[in-house]
Amino acid sequence: MNGSLVGKPVLEVLERRRQTVPPVWLMRQAGRYLPEYRAIRDQAGSFLKLCFTPSLAAEVTLQPIRRFRFDAAILFSDILVVPHALGQRVAFEAGEGPKLEAIEDAASLGRLNDEVDQGQLAPIYETIARVKAELPSNVAFLGFCGAPWTVATYMVAGRGVEGQMPARLFAYRDPDGFQKLIDILVRASASYLIRQFKAGVDAVQIFDTWAGVLSPEEFRRWTIEPTAKIVAAVRREVPSAKIIGFPRGAGASLVPYIDATGVDAVGLDWMIDRTFAREMIQSRLPVQGNLDPLALLAGGSALDRAVDGVVESFSTGPFIFNLGHGILPTTPIEHVERMIARVRTT
Ligand code: CP3
Repeated sequence: MNGSLVGKPVLEVLERRRQTVPPVWLMRQAGRYLPEYRAIRDQAGSFLKLCFTPSLAAEVTLQPIRRFRFDAAILFSDILVVPHALGQRVAFEAGEGPKLEAIEDAASLGRLNDEVDQGQLAPIYETIARVKAELPSNVAFLGFCGAPWTVATYMVAGRGVEGQMPARLFAYRDPDGFQKLIDILVRASASYLIRQFKAGVDAVQIFDTWAGVLSPEEFRRWTIEPTAKIVAAVRREVPSAKIIGFPRGAGASLVPYIDATGVDAVGLDWMIDRTFAREMIQSRLPVQGNLDPLALLAGGSALDRAVDGVVESFSTGPFIFNLGHGILPTTPIEHVERMIARVRTT
């Protein structure tokens, strides 16, 4: 595995080696802001069909690499393929986001399988093999999963809802029942990530998009503990596994998160205080982030100033340039080009 680390700046950073020019990739870099993505998306018919068709999923994974020469490719898939492989019905409706058959209480957990059906996920491992065969040798290949808390919020509500109230209510009313759901997701996510590594990804990211709605106590139980279990389980099978954690909105709770989870690096959203992040987080682990996706959408001198602010704050240590959350679908392509040029010439 070490041989594959040579010459990939993203992996160098994950090994805690600062790069003179920070490597760059964007969360949701394969997506609707690209006309070539929209064409393949139309061809696939449904979003899940795109995720489960290796030739098309590999193509959209590679599109942003060809266009922008990013330093990392992220597997094209979605965090909700895990509930799908656990037997929950998942659909994506155009313009409305995901729809799942809601699991509102412990009694409905009986509808889920105990283990993921690896047969359903097999096309994703095939996508990984295809992408790996075509990726330039200096480009890192990232797999991912959703963190149990964030995936559970969709499983319980059946859709995205403000404040993630259904999952939080479930956890308050029946913590032991909710723990059962989290435990299923810990096992499912660990085995999914292990299979991604075996299929050829170089590193993985655990997306915890809704970590920021939890109180510090809930954060410890529903974000830190499950993530720590996943990291430990993955490393038992793949000792050299590199893992980036992204507990969005965690703020000061990033300190106990990095202490207890064992991740190699953390993604930073744009709300975080940068001095705090540099002194309390980057002094210990590589960081990734944290450009506001809205600054990228705005473009012009506002974008230049925002890029400079990020680079000035973090480029003195191990750092991967990225957004603080996914790229917005209406982002102009020229703004992405301008951002990359500025990062690479600073
Ligand atoms: O980053 C990448 O380019 C890789 C692909 C990727 C997607 N989703 C593709 C996608 C990744 C890493 C994700 C992660 C994901 N999915 C998260 C965590 C990160 C985040 O953005 O918060 C979450 C919460 C989801 C669940 C999800 N998937 C939602 C809420 C939606 C609907 C909202 C939206 O953006 O449309 C999706 C759909 C989705 N996932 C699309 C893409 C490209 C758009 C679907 C389409 O093309 O019609």
